[in-house]
Amino acid sequence: MAYKITEKRQLVPDVHLMNIQAPDVAAAANAGQFIILRIDEAGERIPLTIADYNADEGSVTIIFQEMGKTTKQLAKMSAGEDLLDFVGPLGKESEIEKLGTVVLVGGGVGIAPIYPQAKEYRAAGNKVISIIGARNKDMLILEDEMIAASDEVLVATDDGSKGHHGFVTDLVKQLLDGDEHIDRIVAIGPPIMMRAVAGVTASYDVETLVSLNPIMVDGTGMCGGCRVNVGGEVKFACVDGPEFNAKDVDFNLLMSRLSFYRKEEADAITKSQK
Ligand code: NAD
Ligand code: FES
Repeated sequence: MAYKITEKRQLVPDVHLMNIQAPDVAAAANAGQFIILRIDEAGERIPLTIADYNADEGSVTIIFQEMGKTTKQLAKMSAGEDLLDFVGPLGKESEIEKLGTVVLVGGGVGIAPIYPQAKEYRAAGNKVISIIGARNKDMLILEDEMIAASDEVLVATDDGSKGHHGFVTDLVKQLLDGDEHIDRIVAIGPPIMMRAVAGVTASYDVETLVSLNPIMVDGTGMCGGCRVNVGGEVKFACVDGPEFNAKDVDFNLLMSRLSFYRKEEADAITKSQK
């Protein structure tokens, strides 16, 4: 079965949104889960967090950044073309319940997986405060969608071109030091950002969850490619996660494993451009 791309648009430079016709995935999807896609027979499998889904229309939204050979190839595809595989939903869904006030932190492309969480936490009766950050205002994605899905949105840009001049972590600290009681923080973005959020919240008594994005191969707990260390135990992000309690995550190991194949990835891009 092929999976048709029904919409494709560039959100900001190098970041694209695609709607894929995948009724089975859309019917079963929940916030926090991901899919693994393969473009063609010769393609590698890449995991992408589900950014939105519509069971009635049978469509699933993915948002990806051009980074490696496959995401660059995907970025060249257009509406009307097919993907060979689109497997999911994979991973555990986020445990969304009525808690009170939930702060959602999305950094860069990590705003994409935060978006369905904002909608679901709000639908569950929570007050949702979202903190979204990007390098500059032109790299900020889904701002309007996050405003619509949240009670309050705070923006940070590294260069100060919009909102707070600095990292999302500054705004997390400001909220934690303020009067609002916060019941849970969920942070998704580059590992260095999630490590920094975990560092800030460590001295406050607030549950903090992060969504890990290690290298994945099968997505079903068989290959061990996605192993991470959480609370001193080996966990497979694809079946035990991808969400974990931030205070237990060994971010340094995650970051070193993510950089392990950087040379091979660069070589693959060079080879595909020849
Ligand atoms: P980026 O480098 O532009 O950073 C986004 C924001 O994160 C920054 O604007 C800043 O507010 C914050 N940040 C960055 N470094 C920080 C630090 N040292 N301390 C505190 N805050 C910091 O992000 P990007 O280029 O969009 O990130 C791409 C990375 O995110 C890729 O590695 C991708 O794999 C990863 N990603 C992860 C997930 C996930 O599920 N965890 C989802 C999408 C993307
Ligand atoms: Fe293979 Fe998780 S991706 S075990």
